[in-house]
Amino acid sequence: MSPESIRGTRGEDRSNYTREESRAIRRRSLRLLGSLLKPRKKLIVLTAVVVVLSAVLRAMGPSLIAYGIDEALPRAVAQGDWGPAIGISLAYLVVGGGGAALVGWYVVLIARLTQAVMLELRTRIFRHTQRLSLEFHEGYTSGRIISRQTSDLESIQELLDGSLSELIDAVLLGSFTLIALFLLDWRSGLVLVAMGLPLGILMWWFVIESQKGFRATRTVSARLIVQFVETMTGIRAVQAFRREKRNDRAFAKVSDDYRRANLRVVNLFGVLDPGLVLLGNITIAAVLLWGAFRVTDNALAVGVLLAALLHVRNFFGPLEDVAMFLNSYQSAVAALEKVSGVLEEEPTVQDPERPVALPAARGSLRFDNVTFRYGGADDPKVVLDRCTLDIPAGQTIALVGTTGAGKSTLAKLIARFYDPTEGTVALDDVSLRELDTADMRRAIVMVTQEAYLFSGTIAENIALGKPDASRAEIRDAAKAVGADEFIQSLPDGYDTDVNKRGGRVSAGQRQLVSFARAFLADPAVLILDEATASLDLPSERLVQDALQRLLADRTAIIIAHRLSTVAIADRVLVMEHGVVVEDGSPEALVAQGGRFADLHAAWEKSLA
Ligand SMILES: Nc1ncnc2c1ncn2[C@@H]1O[C@H](COP(=O)(O)OP(=O)(O)OP(=O)(O)O)[C@@H](O)[C@H]1O
Ligand SMILES: [Mg+2]
Repeated sequence: MSPESIRGTRGEDRSNYTREESRAIRRRSLRLLGSLLKPRKKLIVLTAVVVVLSAVLRAMGPSLIAYGIDEALPRAVAQGDWGPAIGISLAYLVVGGGGAALVGWYVVLIARLTQAVMLELRTRIFRHTQRLSLEFHEGYTSGRIISRQTSDLESIQELLDGSLSELIDAVLLGSFTLIALFLLDWRSGLVLVAMGLPLGILMWWFVIESQKGFRATRTVSARLIVQFVETMTGIRAVQAFRREKRNDRAFAKVSDDYRRANLRVVNLFGVLDPGLVLLGNITIAAVLLWGAFRVTDNALAVGVLLAALLHVRNFFGPLEDVAMFLNSYQSAVAALEKVSGVLEEEPTVQDPERPVALPAARGSLRFDNVTFRYGGADDPKVVLDRCTLDIPAGQTIALVGTTGAGKSTLAKLIARFYDPTEGTVALDDVSLRELDTADMRRAIVMVTQEAYLFSGTIAENIALGKPDASRAEIRDAAKAVGADEFIQSLPDGYDTDVNKRGGRVSAGQRQLVSFARAFLADPAVLILDEATASLDLPSERLVQDALQRLLADRTAIIIAHRLSTVAIADRVLVMEHGVVVEDGSPEALVAQGGRFADLHAAWEKSLA
């Protein structure tokens, strides 16, 4: 089974999966957990020892009291011998204090363990998702990827930090208490064991019901987040199309579902809590009654009875924690399943095993019978159909064609954001699949319409193309593409923070910055995908001039709807439905009369 089929698009509710898939998911979560815990074996063993010791000490208390009342107290009263009483008080103090100190220690140990695991998991998720191919990111919504890094990690932390240790503590304390009770007075022990049946039924009922309840709250809360993120990321469209009212209604509905789901869970606690209290009190009453009969028959010492009652109370104390554990356990398991899913996702574009170095690429490109489908070999939709192309180094190509023809796809294949489904794309006769990744990224740069600026200064954003560039180089690059003038007019010039007020730049200015970035990077192959679409005509003309310089001695692929950009091309490729239908110099294509000639005629007319 492929990881994709597990990730799927069926949402992330376990109930949608077959048994075998669920098993695979569980195995993958356990694998992740194992890999996180394995390097910390020593810390885990130490924590376990401390937890067990502290539980043993805390379970001893009541038995010491029994000794004090039945043995030490009579000796003090009858013989004036205070030694045993003082001794037992000191012993109680040591045991109690030791138990408390150990609790403190294991809390610290568990926190250390948890934080180490969280740190590793957090960095692993970040590094891994960053490395995953574009294909993953185009399919995995930002809301979901945010949840992996936030709420999922929180659930896992909650389990490791709190609930799990509470559970282990409760189970250990319960077991040792039961043992101590049997050693002290097995009849009282029997009463407690007999209460195990109704107790078991109550807990079992709660486990089953809460499992359903918690699953419902998680599903609804995921819907709530999606609704919120989608509205806020699309806020421009929301306001432009006046979707607010409808969104309000939809959000109110999901919120109300969430309220109801939570209420259902809380109601379960409304039964569990009093149930536990009731069972605890019944047990205490039963132990007390039977014990009282035996005390009057002189078959049981009063101190032992008191100790038995204390033991019973200690036993019931942490039971609610055990029930509560379930909540965090379930959400942590769900979180672990999702996180492990992302972590086991393989980049579809793999680094080559034996990379071929190409430190100084000339920039010739070749497409050899390239077929491409976004969904892989099974996808019926062919976006690029057996494309064969030869682009000599230094050529400037204009790629034109109708919307959806496959131009951007072709560009993404050259930049190796995807690998072809069949055939090869090669740079200087080296297949991109074998080319050293760093050399490939240096040689091929793609500038798109969505020029993205990272937080930081304008200069830093330009230097992205060449991290060690000097200020003079950065300025030269900006001048070359005609960006220097607007940058100088910003409040702090090149040091303007792009996220601060006043540093906000327009879409066209962003494009100029990304041009400067590409110019500084100085790649052998430059791809411009609608990169001038946001520029006004004067700026575009400026860029046209700059473009001549920018493209001078490199291979260039320009995708543009505005034919003005095409004027500087040596060669035009016209694409239709994933096939290059015309290929030649602009003049030749115009003379030949075809699609490009039509486009060209229409463009000339619009200028007139
Ligand atoms: N990430 C994707 N997953 C699946 N199909 C896609 C994806 N991106 C594009 N397509 C499909 O591939 C086809 C070609 O898209 P492409 O973006 O290459 O067109 P284009 O020629 O660049 O169009 P435009 O001029 O509008 O930018 C389209 O039919 C589109 O629906
Ligand atoms: Mg496109």
